[in-house]
Order: sequence, then C-alpha cells, then structure tokens
Amino acid sequence: MDKYIVAGNWKMNLNLREGEALACELASYLEDHPPEKSRVLVGVPYIHLAAVTKVLASSGAVVSAQDCSEHQKGAYTGEVSATQIKSTGAGAVIVGHSERRAYHHESEEVINQKIRRALDEDLTPILCVGELLSDRKNQRQESVVSEQLKGGLAGFDAAALQKMVIAYEPVWAIGTGETASPEQAQEMHAFIRKYLGEYYDAETAREVSILYGGSVKPDNAREIFGQPDVNGGLIGGASLKAASFLELIRIAEFL
Ligand code: PGA
Repeated sequence: MDKYIVAGNWKMNLNLREGEALACELASYLEDHPPEKSRVLVGVPYIHLAAVTKVLASSGAVVSAQDCSEHQKGAYTGEVSATQIKSTGAGAVIVGHSERRAYHHESEEVINQKIRRALDEDLTPILCVGELLSDRKNQRQESVVSEQLKGGLAGFDAAALQKMVIAYEPVWAIGTGETASPEQAQEMHAFIRKYLGEYYDAETAREVSILYGGSVKPDNAREIFGQPDVNGGLIGGASLKAASFLELIRIAEFL
C-alpha cells in the first residue's frame, strides 16, 4: 500500500489544450521529484484520457476516468465503457461520485455494476461515499455511509476490495470551501475501516486506502492527511492549478 494517494479530480473543467498543459507541468515536476511515499493520480474528462496518459507516461502518475458505463458495450449513446477507458492507457476510474449520484440518480446497484466493469478491465475503482448535510445534522452519517458501502461492495470478496480505493467525501464539504474537521474525517475513516474489518477481515481493512475529499487545499491538507486513518485525498478545485496540486503532493511526501 502507498502511504498516501494524492488524487486530482478535474471534473468538467479544462479544455484539451489546458489539460495537456497542466499534465505537462505535473510530469516535469514528478520526473524530477519522484514521490517515494505517495502515488499521484489524476481524474480527467474522457476526452483527455489518451493525451494525458501519454504526457504522464514516465511520471509514475496514474490517469483515471471520472466514471464508466455499467454496461460492457453496445448501443448506449454517449456512454464510455471500462474497456474503452482501459484502451487509452488509463489505470483507474472514479465510481459513485456524489455528483453522479445526485445529478444522474445513480443507484447502489448501478455503482456496484460499474465497479465490476472496472475490475474486469483491471482498472482501480475509486468508490466514493459520503453523507449529505441533512444526514449529518440528523446524525445519520454512519448509517448512510455503511449503506453505500454495503450496496457498492455487494458480491465482492476481500481480494476484490484489495484492488479498490475508497474515498470519503461528505457532500456538504465538496466545492463549498467547508471541510470536515480533521477529527470528523478521522472519525468517519475509522468507522469505514471498522465496517470493512467486520465485513471482510482486519488485515484487508487495514490495507485499503481511504481518501478524504471535500475542499482539500494546501492550508488544510497537512492536518487532514496526518490523521491515522486518512491515506490521502481526492481533490477537486485545488487540482486544477499545478501550484496547489504540487503543493499537496509535497505535503503528503514530507508529512
Ligand atoms: P473539491 O472536490 O476539492 O473541489 O471540494 C472534491 C471532489 O468532489 O472530489
């Protein structure tokens, strides 16, 4: 297991030229300063996958898609399959991001199927879970997250879980400037690990990387990444500029 994973999620930002330029900045830094403790990952729009994979080829960074179809192939206009993602050279796929759950009404069954497609293609699924503000206000955050884990992971054994990454992203902290406190992050990460320990086994639970996501920035990352059950971050806004993303990589590396 890498000590940390620093994962960017560009969402629907940057045109192709801008994405390549950002990837070039990352590549030149990573080639000069190969991280020893952390793995860098960038989640890019589909149209960037092939080009960014090429730019980052000798950097050690992993390129990820932000979603994949639950279907294998066929008449699904506008969809992109895990097989197609794999063919670009990408190595991972974000699944069940809260924006997909909210705007595309993705169910746990669909998310579960997407994880299966990703694993079939040897892509690392990054399964996102997290509660709404109303859930937290009603102290339902643990039951919401455990339902998401139960649904998303249904039918997968410990060997499959070992190939995945979990990202805890409280919806109220995404893109809002509001972060979970380091204590709130640690509490939920520990809960997720405990859940996985009961559902699978202690060793698998200990080994799985659990990332925190939601307004991670250079000025709060040190404290969040420093929590015992936090293995890095899934970073939206701050991954769109080389300066802030590289700073996050340095923070993980020198923590
Ligand atoms: P944010 O996004 O860092 O802009 O809050 C995180 C995410 O949605 O993955």
